[in-house]
Amino acid sequence: MDSFTQKLEKAPFAFNFDDLLLLPGFSEVRSKDISLKTMFSKSITISSPLVSSPMDTVTESAMAIAMAENGGIGVIHRNMSAEEQVEILKTVKSAEPNSPNATIGDDKRLAVAAALSPFDIDRAKLISKYTDALLFDVAHFHTKAILESVKKIISETGKDIIIGSMGTKEDVMHSVSYLEKVDGLRVGIGGGSICITTDVTKAGSPTPFAVSQAADALRELGLEIPIIADGGIRTAGDIALVFALGADSAMLGYGVAGTDESPGDIKTVNGAKYKPYRGMGSKGAREKRLVNDRYADTGGKNFDEGIEGMIPYKGSVADVISVMNSSVKASIGYAGAGSINDMHAKARIARISSGRTSKAEIKPGR
Ligand code: XMP
Repeated sequence: MDSFTQKLEKAPFAFNFDDLLLLPGFSEVRSKDISLKTMFSKSITISSPLVSSPMDTVTESAMAIAMAENGGIGVIHRNMSAEEQVEILKTVKSAEPNSPNATIGDDKRLAVAAALSPFDIDRAKLISKYTDALLFDVAHFHTKAILESVKKIISETGKDIIIGSMGTKEDVMHSVSYLEKVDGLRVGIGGGSICITTDVTKAGSPTPFAVSQAADALRELGLEIPIIADGGIRTAGDIALVFALGADSAMLGYGVAGTDESPGDIKTVNGAKYKPYRGMGSKGAREKRLVNDRYADTGGKNFDEGIEGMIPYKGSVADVISVMNSSVKASIGYAGAGSINDMHAKARIARISSGRTSKAEIKPGR
């Protein structure tokens, strides 16, 4: 057994977004010809790599419709009764797919995913008819109780199964080997913008590090399961970076919150507009979940793991997606790649030194 000193010395570096950058590479493709087509899960292809997070200030019907219309996909949160979730899924399925890029399910309707507790077999049976994928929504998936429960639930539904969150190679290797069917992995623990898990518990796995661990685990097992990078993704560059490390799509909380399509009212403070955004482990979200979801497993926890507040209003999510997609293309182009698969194979990264990071001081104006 290693000594404690060796444990320290062998500690891996858990890289986060600000530690890394993409190195420029030889590009043969023009930015407008770069493809953002990728897999959300084994049977759901998306033409934009953006996924909206299952949070009660992010994804209900309006967001899921807009995400799918614009080539991505939304995951309906679970901070409501199973019946309410079914109503939301039905609303998404009743929308007309209008854009040629729209994400379409086997039923030829807009594709949508739904979050649920890994212990909620009743909800799984009920929502399976109306959703294209089930996302087992828990901060730390790799536990004996969750694996055993999900193993039973999987046999009750024919839909795509997404599991997470995962933080390490061991989490992924054990979970995907134990379960008969896994169609997607949600990867990254504690990196969310509203997240205080790591501050409180010291546990976490920053998204870039977690993605590289998950991608290596799959490669070692010879499996092709799409990886959804989740937590702390702010810029197009962050998205391109997780592609370079093996991710297939990017889940956004903050990135698409504060839009017309996110739940909650606009508040005006000193002339500026804001909308609510809160962690699903925040006090308010936890209180709502305990009332609405009897499977909300607190695991004996009685502390908050997220914050709640207001963020600046951003307008329509279609505009946010459009700007994000074109900047992700630019980022992929800089890295010398022509597609997301190409990023896995070709993109190179570097660690950032603490050299000059400040910009020259320039007063705004012409
Ligand atoms: P961003 O950075 O996009 O992150 O806002 C969204 C992701 O954060 C996770 N999440 C939480 N993590 N406490 C946490 O530790 C919370 O209360 C919480 N709520 C959401 C989740 O993975 C989401 O997709």
